[in-house]
Amino acid sequence: MIAIGCDHGGLEIKNAIVEYLKKAEIEYIDFGTYTEDSVDYPIYAYKVANAVSKGECEKGIICCGTGIGVAIVANKVKGVRAATVTNEFCAEMTRRHNDTNVVTMGGRVIDADTAVRLAEIFLSTPFDGDRHTRRVDMITQIENGEFSC
Ligand code: RB5
Repeated sequence: MIAIGCDHGGLEIKNAIVEYLKKAEIEYIDFGTYTEDSVDYPIYAYKVANAVSKGECEKGIICCGTGIGVAIVANKVKGVRAATVTNEFCAEMTRRHNDTNVVTMGGRVIDADTAVRLAEIFLSTPFDGDRHTRRVDMITQIENGEFSC
C-alpha cells in the first residue's frame, strides 16, 4: 500500500501520479489535498509520513511546490527517511543507498510526466543493502539518540 498526499502546489503532479498508480494497479491511499485551495503542507505531509511510520503503508509520496517543505516534515516523523528528488538518478539512488521510504517532489520544479517517471523508479528500485545498511542504521541511531562518534 502506497500513501500519497500533496498541498495545492503539488496537486497537479500528485493527480498524475495517482493516475499512474491506478493504471499500474498499485494500491494507494490518497490523503489529499484534493482541490487547488491553499492549504498548509505540514498537515498532508504528516498524514502520509504517519501512515508509513505506523506501517499502514509501505512507502509514501508527497508533493508540494518545491518538495522541500514536505520532506522536512516527513523527516521529523519516526522511522521515516524522506528525500526530495528532481531527476531519475536521484530517484534511483535514494532507494539504492538511503533506503528511503518517502519520496517528495515539487510541482513548481518538475512536470507531471517527470513526476510519474520518478515515482515509478522510486517504487520499483530495491535497497542495495551491504555497506549502505550500516549507514542507514547510523541514521536510525541518530534518530533514537543512540549515536556517538
Ligand atoms: C506553498 O506555497 C509552498 O510553500 C509549498 O507548496 C512548498 O513548496 C513548501 O515547501
